[in-house]
Amino acid sequence: MNAHDRTVTHAASPTAVITGIGSCLPPHVVDNDTVVARGALHTDDAWIRDRTGITRRRHADPGTSTGDLAVGAGRAALASAGDHRPEMLLLATSTPDHPCPATAPAVAHRLGLGTIPAFDLAAVCSGFLYALATASALVRSGTSSTVLVIAADTYTSIVNPADRETAPIFGDGAGAVLLRPGTRDEPGAVIAVDLGADGSGSDLITVPYGGSRHPHHLPPPEPDARYFHMQGRTVYAHAVRRMTQSAGSVLRRADWAPETVRAFVGHQANQRILDSVGDRLGIAPAHRFGNIGELGNTAAASIPLVLADPAVHHGVAPGARSLLSAFGGGLTWASVALNWPAAVPRSEAPPTDLDTTPLCTPDLSRSHPWTASTTTS
Ligand code: UT7
Repeated sequence: MNAHDRTVTHAASPTAVITGIGSCLPPHVVDNDTVVARGALHTDDAWIRDRTGITRRRHADPGTSTGDLAVGAGRAALASAGDHRPEMLLLATSTPDHPCPATAPAVAHRLGLGTIPAFDLAAVCSGFLYALATASALVRSGTSSTVLVIAADTYTSIVNPADRETAPIFGDGAGAVLLRPGTRDEPGAVIAVDLGADGSGSDLITVPYGGSRHPHHLPPPEPDARYFHMQGRTVYAHAVRRMTQSAGSVLRRADWAPETVRAFVGHQANQRILDSVGDRLGIAPAHRFGNIGELGNTAAASIPLVLADPAVHHGVAPGARSLLSAFGGGLTWASVALNWPAAVPRSEAPPTDLDTTPLCTPDLSRSHPWTASTTTS
């Protein structure tokens, strides 16, 4: 291939563009006092709000799984995109419905998507951006023209309610986007990606028991090993450093100066981490967006849940330079430079059906899951 051919090939390559955005939140709102009382935690509402920025979060009701939330978010994203049918489905999660098989094929089945390829992607809290980068590459290469990317987690299924370092932080939810081929100048275009991982820190965020290292037929290495563990202080330092580095890298790849970014959306792990990364990058507070106070840390779902938040969506102009950055277990990190999408987000309540359901436009007369309020205290 000569230089001319390469230019032609590059010019002909499409850019992946977000054309639909959806979310699914469990209706059960749990405030800080309830989390503290439930786990008999030695902490209080003031400490949690001051040190994390979290006021409340959503908890999945018993019987509601990650797959259920993923179906709701996927349906909402497809409706937002005008009921396009995707050719592939990626599900980012670290709380799958079962250790085996992957949850994505069942989600595709329940969405009525036939036999399209569907697989899970496990990059913990960086999962959505890892999946977005993967899906973007599939669209650019022409492997799949439309890809549904869902990020869903139910951390309440693995967090120890009696662990004060994790129980107040995590919530449940799902977000999704639909990608289609387009051009670099369109709202929703994925401009550049940066991904990284460092397995030397794989013990900092972990569920020790129940995998092939410590299988169920052997005794657990420690009594609470079946639960999620996080070495919070060490993870905090890694998160600030890696998100700042990765975000800087993706901005250089996009050839965007930090001061031109109009929307910074970081993984909603801790408000102090987000403030620190925003300050280091030189992005003004007015251009930082999040919803950690309302939803806590929803793991892989946290960034798409900000994209899908109606209050955030209307605060950013379609096409505005946007920076997404995440950090999570693995350790993993990821950043994406994106033109802010024009797609209007839709939301769905968690479905209760377990059978294949027709792809349909949601009933907007129903109560809006973002405003559902059944606070317990
Ligand atoms: O989503 C994946 C990525 N996750 C993250 O990036 C999360 C990163 N970590 C954090 O957000 C924070 O480290 C936590 C919120 C988990 C903890 O907050 P912190 O301000 O960083 O506390 P720390 O870990 O520096 O600990 C300071 C003290 C410790 O007590 P000692 O050892 O000084 O006596 C902790 O045991 O705060 C204690 N502590 C708490 N005290 C009251 C930790 N959690 C709590 C709590 N209430 N909930």
